[in-house]
Amino acid sequence: MVCLGNICRSPLAQGILESKIDPKKVDVDSAGTAAYHIGKPPDPRSIEIAKKNGIIIQNQKARQFHKNEFSRFSKIYVMDQSNYKKVIALAETNQEKEKVKLILKDQNEVPDPYYAGEDSFKHCFDLLDNACDRILKSLN
Ligand code: 4NP
Repeated sequence: MVCLGNICRSPLAQGILESKIDPKKVDVDSAGTAAYHIGKPPDPRSIEIAKKNGIIIQNQKARQFHKNEFSRFSKIYVMDQSNYKKVIALAETNQEKEKVKLILKDQNEVPDPYYAGEDSFKHCFDLLDNACDRILKSLN
């Protein structure tokens, strides 16, 4: 799960998908394309909306996406076009590029909630919850 800062959207996506899968079978992680928040816990607003939905994400720590993720993961889900481009730019083969997908259908984006209000975090949660249901179906 990849966003820009790895403190708002992708930690939520990680927590939501982890809550739906068998951790013995699927390894889920998240990262940001930027280095701004490395080592920090998720944004308190993401922690809060996750908690309201029974999901604990406060132990996550932000890290930056590295090109070695292409060999570690079979799928790389990105939140928006801007981060899609940043991740694709690090891919070295077509096979690596094919692993990268926008997490929403029809080229839609999960809007960056960082400078927005609490409602945006709820909207983010709902979008990601639906997206993770679809990912889950694609794994079965
Ligand atoms: P995220 O949100 O990419 O969903 O983690 C953001 C977090 C921090 C910043 C931008 C977006 N920032 O500019 O610091």
